[in-house]
Amino acid sequence: MTDFASLLVPDRGQQARPVDLVDKDSFAAWLKKRPAEDRALLEAQRFDGKTAYAFAILPRGNEFEVVSAVKNATELSPWCLAALAGKLPEGTYKLAHGQPGKAALGWLLAQHRFDAYRSKKDDSERGPRILVSGEPARIEATVRLAQATALVRDLVNTPAADLGPAELEAAAAGLANRTGAQLNVIGGEELAVGYPLIAAVGAAATPERAPRLIELEWGKPEDPRVAIVGKGVCFDSGGLDLKNASGMRIMKKDMGGAAHALALAQLVIENRLPVRLHLVIPAVENAVSGASYRPGDIVRSRKGLFVEIDNTDAEGRLILADALAKAAEGQPELIVDFATLTGAARVALGPDLPATFVNRDDLAGELEAAAREAEDPIWRMPLWDPYDEQLKSDVADLSNTSGNAMAGAVYAALFLRRFVPSDIPWAHLDTWAWRDSAKPGRPKGGEALGLRAVWAFLEGRYLQG
Ligand code: BES
Ligand code: ZN
Ligand code: ZN
Repeated sequence: MTDFASLLVPDRGQQARPVDLVDKDSFAAWLKKRPAEDRALLEAQRFDGKTAYAFAILPRGNEFEVVSAVKNATELSPWCLAALAGKLPEGTYKLAHGQPGKAALGWLLAQHRFDAYRSKKDDSERGPRILVSGEPARIEATVRLAQATALVRDLVNTPAADLGPAELEAAAAGLANRTGAQLNVIGGEELAVGYPLIAAVGAAATPERAPRLIELEWGKPEDPRVAIVGKGVCFDSGGLDLKNASGMRIMKKDMGGAAHALALAQLVIENRLPVRLHLVIPAVENAVSGASYRPGDIVRSRKGLFVEIDNTDAEGRLILADALAKAAEGQPELIVDFATLTGAARVALGPDLPATFVNRDDLAGELEAAAREAEDPIWRMPLWDPYDEQLKSDVADLSNTSGNAMAGAVYAALFLRRFVPSDIPWAHLDTWAWRDSAKPGRPKGGEALGLRAVWAFLEGRYLQG
């Protein structure tokens, strides 16, 4: 993993190449103050201060200065230095005015590569470093955020053949070993008895890829209990209601919710948030075999509700039902779950906005405010009561689909709500965990979407209290 910590350097007055930021409003005045030779060089590089992420180089003897256009030079976004950080040569840089602030995150993430499957690795040992002054704790917090984001990207990008339930378990075990958190994994007969929905969805997988419930506990028992749950479908073929080729193509990412949950747990622990953390990851492969669960099967859930399987491709809500029931048994004061749950959430909101369902208005407001602050947008969708009855089954307590092509993300969330006691504040993020096209600092592929929002919320609620 990229050594992010070496790329944010405490400013002790070291030699550094200046990076001057300008935006389109300040450009004209800024240019006037530059000597004529700078103006000529900027013109030669067609630097007009307007084109987003454009930059130019001004020679200074054997060294050089960098000027870069940003959207708003007085309020830096997390990504406004990312294009630069991805292109500048090794060396030490420093903003000519002010501090990188939020943009330090993009500086780091632009230098992360997923190259485990490239025979020729990126040979640049170290990338550009940037000087930061102020609290060393701020640097550490940014480094942790970059590491958590990179963890999500790497886990999601890893092919399903190399990342099954056992490897998800290993990732959680790694976190537990590093931090002294307590790991508990349930499989086999105990899973079949205690978590029948998880066992049913995972039944078709080969023995090495057997389904399991991964739990991690950390923190003082007297601190407020917070549960984080993540959908860990290591590959979603759709089961017997098989997906078509294009629908299946990127389903290695169907453990993206688990990756978010694990990364959030890592942030909670590394920042020593004063909470009693309960991480719950149901990990399965939704495969096809003679042992597959079937449309029409009825499974008695952990909570006791009988669920009729209408479609085996609506597997995420099934494994989450048992995981949420388990999380609720601990009577936490908050449950947050992440899941790549529905295609319908993407139809509604596109790839960048996690559809967020919350059973408390005040909690929804706090989450939205934190998301804005973190510049990690989310969008609230309704747990629309009148639709709930559509989850009825002819023969069981409920069905795993509405049998209706509309409002799929809402039905999925309403299904989950049946397994969360109404007195526990709960937020469900239906996230895409993926980026279809690259942006500066954000390559195509696995992506954390909603992670920084929820982290900012938890930090605001528990760290500054
Ligand atoms: N993992 C998928 C959701 C998904 C599909 C996310 C495409 C991103 C892109 C999930 O398990 C699923 O297949 N959901 C179905 C539910 C349907 C069968 C009720 C869906 O969304 O089509
Ligand atoms: Zn599915
Ligand atoms: Zn799925």
